[in-house]
Amino acid sequence: MATDAPSTLRVQLVEQPRLQKLKEMFLSKFGTAPEFYVRAPGRVNLIGEHIDYCGYAVLPMAIEQDILIAVKPVKSQVVQLANTNSSYLDFSTNVNNIQINKTKPQWHNYFLCGLKGIQEHFGLNNPTGMNCLLDGTIPPSSGLSSSSALVCCAGLVTLKANGKTLSKVELAEICTKSERYIGTEGGGMDQSISFLAEEGTLLAKSKGLDWKNMLRLHDVQTGLGVSLAEMLTVVEAELHPEPYSREEISECLGISLEELRSQVLTQNTQDVSTFKLYQRAKHVYSEAARVLQFKKICNEAPADAIQLLGELMNQSHISCREMYECSCPELDRLVDICLQFGAIGSRLTGAGWGGCTVSMVPTDKLNTFMKNVKKAYYQSDVQRLAPENNSLFATKPGSGALVFVEA
Ligand code: GLA
Repeated sequence: MATDAPSTLRVQLVEQPRLQKLKEMFLSKFGTAPEFYVRAPGRVNLIGEHIDYCGYAVLPMAIEQDILIAVKPVKSQVVQLANTNSSYLDFSTNVNNIQINKTKPQWHNYFLCGLKGIQEHFGLNNPTGMNCLLDGTIPPSSGLSSSSALVCCAGLVTLKANGKTLSKVELAEICTKSERYIGTEGGGMDQSISFLAEEGTLLAKSKGLDWKNMLRLHDVQTGLGVSLAEMLTVVEAELHPEPYSREEISECLGISLEELRSQVLTQNTQDVSTFKLYQRAKHVYSEAARVLQFKKICNEAPADAIQLLGELMNQSHISCREMYECSCPELDRLVDICLQFGAIGSRLTGAGWGGCTVSMVPTDKLNTFMKNVKKAYYQSDVQRLAPENNSLFATKPGSGALVFVEA
């Protein structure tokens, strides 16, 4: 249950080669054995893109690839961080002087986000120091949330090292906020949030709602008290596919251009001159409906469930590409190749504009699928990432964050 604290498992290290190896490396690095280990998985979003911040449910799945950290609390107030991958340099700092570099964040800055989040939550005056050795298996920069997994792992490490407890929900909330220390909210994502919020506000005005208090498209649906299918009809009736100019928007809202700039547009959209309100709203409401359908199919498991789920994933990709415009030629090409070689559904996942795709592939076709996709996508262009760097992999739904102690 989500209200529970993350589990602690007692394990025999002889049965856990990865933990055993990490313990040996820890011993040779720090001269003592770790006291406990924490793992946090990466994740992939199966369906529901760019709708979480509009107030709608999404369907992410934890992957098997993770961040694993071996930890030994120490008496000094120093945190020493090391990584099994030698390209990530050692780092150490005093726990009372956490500085997070936003401009050129290195791996340890993500650890510090989780550390700081927990310290601040409990107002820890005398936080413990610790030695930590990290081993990561999530391909970096691939849109699989390796940085979030590191923040979450560090949050749980700090919690445990300081003898505190929190529920998984509380931990998730703290780690979401603390990742902002590194400026994760900045960039393309922010713009999308602001953009959609404004779309909601428009629609709301046209239907006679109090649009100034509506920040998300979900608020408009709730305000109107209609279904997602009906919201799509509202979009068709109230918005036009041609992009809206600033002038047209201010006219619709009955406010001046200056009021639009200062009261409606956020910092990130100050310079935007046209707004594709129809397309963005259509994506959000149709994607939210697809998530509900996906969940219903999983619950009811009809005979053709797999085909239906695949079809929803494909529709999601088309909507991301055409309506939300968060795909790119490489993602479209990869999706096409995956479908060509046996995926039942395939789509971009995560923020988009690069990143990665997720495909649903029958187990008996997996080997040929992997071989053919590697060949068709990677070997056709020497510029692409080499396939041996784990950028193409199979995964089943993995478990959430855990603590391990040696039995
Ligand atoms: C990023 C964000 C998520 C979500 C996706 C798009 O990955 O971190 O919260 O908004 O983009 O679905």
